[in-house]
Amino acid sequence: MEINGRSLVTGVMGYPVSHSLSPVFQNAAFSHMGLNFVYVPFEVAPLDLGSALEAVRVLNIRGINLTIPHKIEASKYLDGVSEESGILGVVNTVINENGRLLGDITDGKGFIRSITEDGGFEPEGARVMLMGAGGSSYAISGALVNRGIRSLFICNRTENNSLRLKKHLSEKIGFNKVSIIPFRDRNRFDFKGEVDLLVNTTSIGMKPGDLPVIDEDKIPGLRFVYDIVYNRVTELIGASRKNRIPCLGGISMLVYQGAVSFELWTGKKAPVEVMKKSLPSVE
Ligand code: ATR
Repeated sequence: MEINGRSLVTGVMGYPVSHSLSPVFQNAAFSHMGLNFVYVPFEVAPLDLGSALEAVRVLNIRGINLTIPHKIEASKYLDGVSEESGILGVVNTVINENGRLLGDITDGKGFIRSITEDGGFEPEGARVMLMGAGGSSYAISGALVNRGIRSLFICNRTENNSLRLKKHLSEKIGFNKVSIIPFRDRNRFDFKGEVDLLVNTTSIGMKPGDLPVIDEDKIPGLRFVYDIVYNRVTELIGASRKNRIPCLGGISMLVYQGAVSFELWTGKKAPVEVMKKSLPSVE
């Protein structure tokens, strides 16, 4: 990569930020495409977020990703946000259009592109079991609803969080085909003939030795399993592969949500295979 007088800067703001994999695959993508862009990490403490985003404008930084803890606070320093960002109350991508800072969220679009393009699975018409009702589940369930899923089961350890997500989907996007499955009953629930797609958005599987989020005997009969955990091959993915059920782990979503940001900043199609290959293998 050669930096010169016309190079455009992008990056990620987080606190901490050193663990971020985005600089690795975004720079690999810029370099592969021969684009005069660079992507750098910015460690920004929560109280400095306003000044840091003002610096984006002043320094004519082309684009920024936001990660923990900035995704909710950022919008108040921006000139506008996309409809999806407004609904979710979260921004993970800032695009600097001639000094106007626009916020967007790429998780939902990234998830859909990952499961359709990478996984070859079309969620339209599917009956979905969503494990988890935390931050990531909002963008993913919203995107699945917009894609036309038939119905959604929400299964989360804290039932109040399931109820909050159900209310959100009803009030914000008018989707009411939601049932709540108590987490303790998940292995008693009869998946066969009821669920096509299982999506894990919990952190179960991040640690070696975690049990699969559901018992292995629930997996045959599913049409697709998606696990957003990306630091290792989870027990859920292991069990899906063993049962020959098509599945994807979280590296795919990580790359595709970044690919959507890349496309917003550069206007060019992201080289997703190059981006994926640039990351340390977790196979
Ligand atoms: P993210 O932004 O990645 O979604 P989060 O908002 O902290 O992270 O959500 C974590 C999800 O994992 C939640 O659904 C959480 O369940 P609770 O709502 O009950 O907290 C789930 N989770 C985390 N650890 C879990 C565990 N040991 N067993 C079951 N669910 C767990």
